[in-house]
Amino acid sequence: MATPHIEVNDKNLFAKTVLMPGDPLRAEYIAKTYLTDVVKINNVRNMFAFTGYYKGKKITVMGSGMGMPSIGIYSYELFNVYGVENIIRIGSCGSYSKDVNVYDVIIVKDAYSESSYAKVAYGYEENVQKGSDELFAKLNESAKKLGYPVINERIHSSDVFYRAHGNVFTDVRDAYGCVAVEMESFALFANARYLNKKAACVLTVSDSLVTNEVTTSEERQNSFNRMMEIALEAAE
Ligand code: HPA
Repeated sequence: MATPHIEVNDKNLFAKTVLMPGDPLRAEYIAKTYLTDVVKINNVRNMFAFTGYYKGKKITVMGSGMGMPSIGIYSYELFNVYGVENIIRIGSCGSYSKDVNVYDVIIVKDAYSESSYAKVAYGYEENVQKGSDELFAKLNESAKKLGYPVINERIHSSDVFYRAHGNVFTDVRDAYGCVAVEMESFALFANARYLNKKAACVLTVSDSLVTNEVTTSEERQNSFNRMMEIALEAAE
């Protein structure tokens, strides 16, 4: 049962719900800060995974790495080999909109991408992929209960971070209505769709391509903590 990327040999070491930050050290921070009875279950490529309990609920936190190829591999194996039912990506994004500010939290409605991932993998022609309506609703309920304001909009899952022509984001924003950019959700949503599993994505805005504002590490941590609470409370 171990895969080339995950050394776990017992399905039960994974919870049914996995929270996926991009950075494996973030996964470690989350496990240590929010979970009890934590066990580290994966070390391959330092893509750490931890399983523990949040208010009695069994939860796994695992890094996804950056970009669609990376989250595509890990989420596929979690869903298909380890019986994981729900993956909630918790990440950061850059704002494309003057109405979306640094530190805002976005519960992603759906993701546009120019990526060929969904077409190559599954023959899906649509350039917008969407996660689970049920998880989306749960995350929104959770934010409401906690009293944290959130944005529900479309985002751009980009295949590239650096471009020859700096600020090309306005084309994508205006053509597809994307309010922010990250690099993973489209592939995660396509995998969940194909495998009949549930996926969702919560993002904090870490930078703005409109104002070029950058965040301070303290404030980043605060908005990150809000996003984490929303995801943990929504997890089954
Ligand atoms: N581009 C792509 N992904 C990102 C960004 C960005 O500006 N900020 C956070 N994730």
